[in-house]
Amino acid sequence: MKRVAIITASDSGFRGEREDLSGPVIKEIAEAHGYEIVHMCLLPDDEDKLSKEMRHIADENMADLILTTGGTGFSERDCMPEATIAVTERIVPGITEAIRAFSMKLTKRAMLSRAAAGIRKKTLIVNLPGSPKAVRESLEFIIDELGHGLEILTGETSNCARK
Ligand code: MTE
Repeated sequence: MKRVAIITASDSGFRGEREDLSGPVIKEIAEAHGYEIVHMCLLPDDEDKLSKEMRHIADENMADLILTTGGTGFSERDCMPEATIAVTERIVPGITEAIRAFSMKLTKRAMLSRAAAGIRKKTLIVNLPGSPKAVRESLEFIIDELGHGLEILTGETSNCARK
């Protein structure tokens, strides 16, 4: 069973002024696809705090996959892509390209998502947008293919045998 950690970035959520609805959407979808949720946290839009959390999860090998929500837009405080890029050793542009390409068919505003993805050690980190609707649309589109990437990343399989 692959292990997932979920990080929500939201200043208002962290202050207790807004309920985090997006983290639970990730949890629901990941569990429905056979993932084990090993960690969930709500942090402010603070680049250092977000990076520190991702680095800790990857370096302690707590999860195979980190899914984040929020902080990918244009607000002054949005810094999730920067926090992610700061800790990734290898970038994985295809996942976020795919999310944007698919999402553009639903809303042209998908072009405004600055989401990033990358690998640190044996952990894949993927940024998802902030709203529960956007999270659902994005994650449901990519989740089946993530499994194969994680198998290669964790050494469970070494080839890409076609179906
Ligand atoms: N992607 C999908 N699939 N559906 C959406 O509704 N909203 C977009 C975009 N991606 C959207 C989407 C909008 S309006 C913004 S501003 C960006 O994600 C960034 O969102 P964030 O700042 O909440 O992370």
